[in-house]
Amino acid sequence: MSEEFGKEYWEERYRGHTAVWSRRPNPQLVAEAGELSPGTALDAGCGEGADAIWLASRGWRVTAVDIASAALRRAREQADTFGADVTSRIDWVPADLTSWTPTGEHFDLVSAHYIHVAASREALSREALQRRLAASVAPGGTLLIVGHHPTDPHTSALRASAPEMFFTAEEVAGSLDPDRWDIAVAETRTRSVTDHDGHEITIRDAVLRASKRPSQPDAATP
Ligand SMILES: C[S@@+](CC[C@H](N)C(=O)[O-])C[C@H]1O[C@@H](n2cnc3c(N)ncnc32)[C@H](O)[C@@H]1O
Repeated sequence: MSEEFGKEYWEERYRGHTAVWSRRPNPQLVAEAGELSPGTALDAGCGEGADAIWLASRGWRVTAVDIASAALRRAREQADTFGADVTSRIDWVPADLTSWTPTGEHFDLVSAHYIHVAASREALSREALQRRLAASVAPGGTLLIVGHHPTDPHTSALRASAPEMFFTAEEVAGSLDPDRWDIAVAETRTRSVTDHDGHEITIRDAVLRASKRPSQPDAATP
């Protein structure tokens, strides 16, 4: 099992001067959440905050959680450039999602893009974390999970050392109780992007969007 994606790894990754990610919201978030009515959102593994900022700019109240304080510092600084309207709608929470539980709160949207959790015997597995995220969705709310597909060309070098990081949308869909969830999207999507060095790279995403059915009222007792 790979231990390489623990807190120390991520703190170190964000310690440099340049942005690690693009500062743009993830395209699958824009595609899948653009039509949703704003409510409360959990951005799980928010990194430098581009998704949380995009959601807050559209009226969502966002709880943005990341294990790396260095990521949250950058995210806060970036959000400040968008003004009080945006910053007032985001709570930045430094926490390990494998042990953190939102205090009884459920969210209208739970969004998780490329959380690379460390695989260890002590921590939750990726599958267990995804189940926990699903449990944090409010009745009537949306779960959006995006990750690297097992055939993603860009991250192929990681497959040998961290195979647990990769999944298909169908696998996540299969873990959701069919009596409680409607699967809106379970797809593999391939896209081209330009990396920091100006090279064209191909990315293959697993994209799962599902809606939790509204709670059923208790059946009337005769
Ligand atoms: C590949 S980055 C993706 C960041 C962001 N979601 C994006 O798409 O730009 C993965 C993020 O998950 C965070 N992360 C990894 N394990 C975590 C954990 N156990 N709890 C909270 N955040 C975690 C990392 O610190 C990192 O910011």
